[in-house]
Amino acid sequence: MKEFEGKVAVITGAAEGIGRAIAEEAAARGMKLVLADIDAAKLDAATAELRAKGADADGLRTDVAKPSQVDDLADLAFARFGRVHLVVANAGVACAKPVWETTPGDWEWVMGVNLYGVTNALRAFLPRMLSGGEEGHVVATASMAGLLSLPSMAAYNASKHAVVTVMEGLHHDLALRKAAIGASVLCPSWVKTRISLSERNRTAGEVTRVESLDPVAAKLVGAVHEAVAGGIEPAAAARAVIEAVAANRFYILTHGNSKSGVKARLEDILQDRLPTLVRL
Ligand SMILES: NC(=O)c1ccc[n+]([C@@H]2O[C@H](COP(=O)([O-])OP(=O)(O)OC[C@H]3O[C@@H](n4cnc5c(N)ncnc54)[C@H](O)[C@@H]3O)[C@@H](O)[C@H]2O)c1
Repeated sequence: MKEFEGKVAVITGAAEGIGRAIAEEAAARGMKLVLADIDAAKLDAATAELRAKGADADGLRTDVAKPSQVDDLADLAFARFGRVHLVVANAGVACAKPVWETTPGDWEWVMGVNLYGVTNALRAFLPRMLSGGEEGHVVATASMAGLLSLPSMAAYNASKHAVVTVMEGLHHDLALRKAAIGASVLCPSWVKTRISLSERNRTAGEVTRVESLDPVAAKLVGAVHEAVAGGIEPAAAARAVIEAVAANRFYILTHGNSKSGVKARLEDILQDRLPTLVRL
């Protein structure tokens, strides 16, 4: 999808962070917007600010883990604009714990938002985008945790690996049908957002008590929080997304050094080595 002017974008997790920055970037390129987020107050503020800058924007409070709410989002977008060209399934949450401490509620929450949030969007939007016959693109936000396996991030890693493989399979499905819709997966390294405070929007299970983590997990979690705080600006990730859509590039990696970690993992598999602990 090379032209953006006048086209319609739907973005989840758009109230702040990377999603919000993608909305800004899409609006700057003349796109009409439908924004979704579970945080109604921040979503309303983001929608109002984009409108104040001249964007044709609407917002709907949506819990992406709930299929019917994502269906409502699609209904709103198609009712409002008649067509949708770009869907960015970006909403996501992080939960940092070793697997043996990850509770059924942790799994339900993280898989619900990170994986089913993506599959709910693909199911709600793609049939109407495909039958509309227009050029379009779908992007899902995974993570470098979808290409590598970080310690003490069991549910997050699993959800993001699942998103990568769902999007790879989707790419094949679209290409085999010669569809006018492209697909990409965003795999950022550290981006300066409030992802470390994801539990603020927790919808399933008990909120994690950081003080209950063992010293190894606590140290790793502290390092992740520091890395996020020192990460790139969300606007840089957003630009990478829009440029990848324009170029029909599938894998969107935000940091130059990310590929060495991927290479190390693949070499571990090919050379029958123990997994390398990659520092992002
Ligand atoms: N920040 C990073 O370093 C980083 C790295 C890799 C991947 N990611 C991914 O980027 C995406 C965006 O995260 P971010 O870094 O901007 O974090 P963020 O916390 O700033 O933004 C996430 C947004 O998603 C919303 N959200 C949470 N649960 C939701 C739900 N159930 N339904 C709808 N919206 C919901 C939040 O309210 C928030 O507005 C996530 O998928 C995250 O996993 C972030």
